[in-house]
Amino acid sequence: MPDNKTLLTAAQAAFDYREKLPHLAAGAQASREELLSLVNADLPDDGESPDAAIQMLIKGAERGLNSSAGPRYFGFVIGGSTPASVATDWLASAWDQNAQSYNTSPAASVIEEIVAKWLLDLLGLPKESGVGFVTGAQMANFTALTVARNAVLQKQGWDVEADGLQSAPHINVICSECCHATVRSAIRLMGLGVKNVKTVSADSEGRIELGAFNRALAACKGPTIVCAQAGNVNTGAFDAFGPMAASAKERGAWLHIDGAFGLWACASPKLKNLAEHINEADSWAADAHKWLNVPYDSGMVIIRDAALHRNLKTARCAYSASAGPDFRDGSQWAPENSRRARGFVLYAALRNLGRKGVRQVVDNCCEIAQTFAAELAKLPHVRVLNRVVLNQVLFRIEPESAIDTDAFNKSVALRIQRSGVCWMGTTQWRGQTALRISVSNWSTTTADAHQSIASVKNAIEQETQSSQ
Ligand SMILES: Cc1ncc(COP(=O)(O)O)c(C=O)c1O
Repeated sequence: MPDNKTLLTAAQAAFDYREKLPHLAAGAQASREELLSLVNADLPDDGESPDAAIQMLIKGAERGLNSSAGPRYFGFVIGGSTPASVATDWLASAWDQNAQSYNTSPAASVIEEIVAKWLLDLLGLPKESGVGFVTGAQMANFTALTVARNAVLQKQGWDVEADGLQSAPHINVICSECCHATVRSAIRLMGLGVKNVKTVSADSEGRIELGAFNRALAACKGPTIVCAQAGNVNTGAFDAFGPMAASAKERGAWLHIDGAFGLWACASPKLKNLAEHINEADSWAADAHKWLNVPYDSGMVIIRDAALHRNLKTARCAYSASAGPDFRDGSQWAPENSRRARGFVLYAALRNLGRKGVRQVVDNCCEIAQTFAAELAKLPHVRVLNRVVLNQVLFRIEPESAIDTDAFNKSVALRIQRSGVCWMGTTQWRGQTALRISVSNWSTTTADAHQSIASVKNAIEQETQSSQ
């Protein structure tokens, strides 16, 4: 007999965890050795009860969890997960639907249709676009750039899916020096070769230099793909989409925008100026597991030309015929075949937040980022390095007494992390080590920001004392 009561055990454990989450240390507490000592064992010959297996996992993992779902975790661009989205994520697992096709899950198919329509509406993107649900922005960038590759070669009369890349016309790819590493990974995976990328310089905020971009584009002959960015992962800056879209259009180039977190700015009228002309691109990549605050794995790839998008994969298994041209088969819009029904989570998250709720999450994070910047700038020797236009704050501590300022900043970051009050990481910005804050969690408050700033202040004072 299945022991479905285990689901309640897990639900109770999850509930208990989420209740204490705001008060937990922001970073993991155990070392690798300690974690291994808790979980390492020989694979049992005889299985354990589901409850026992789950309890062992909880016991082994809890001290190694980052409180990245909590309000004072500012590392990477993590986002949190709202109760509605977590609960629906459980349901998606319990229902265990395969979102591959209408036939494998009629419900997953129609929910994807509705979510796709809502997202295009919320983000102000062309209504006719195709939307695919993927694991994250890496896959979204890969999928969009693959469709772009197919499209620019098709215009040259080259069918890359049939004839491959070996003798295909050369494809120009233009990226900013500040594009995200996953864009370059996508280019590698697609077989275009990162050495072939024309890398254009960026300004002090990480925005592509328009003059250099136009010169690079003018030098391109034949099929061309341009990669732009909504939300630099360090500064939050957006490229200038209007001029880029106009130049790309004039040259017949494909314009892709990596908006892993930045695309959500389109949901906020306050951020309209940043996102201007974003809807003139040919494709967009975004993560729902960042600023929409749903659990991992959840990204979207959006392509203006839905017919091209739907042709991404034309091969079908004989046992898996389509229900018909009007029926959505999720796997036609994404590289994966059998897929998690992540559309369910997005449906509940969007219903729960509504248009206003998404806007509020975005605006609230941006306001808190402003508070961070203003208050950090008041601390001695702290310099905020970016214009805070979105949710990202970069700062560096520059005491005259420091012999090695980069090392000083790294030590301060470690002290902050060890304090457990909040978690922020370091990055390299313009050749220097800086500390980096990403405010992307729905539950972060201004009080969390002040508590975190106090811990930064403490860490700086302690490091200053110990280095004297
Ligand atoms: C601008 C940008 N693009 C792509 C990614 C990659 O996203 P993922 O890790 O979800 O694949 C990130 C992650 O932070 C990002 O900030």
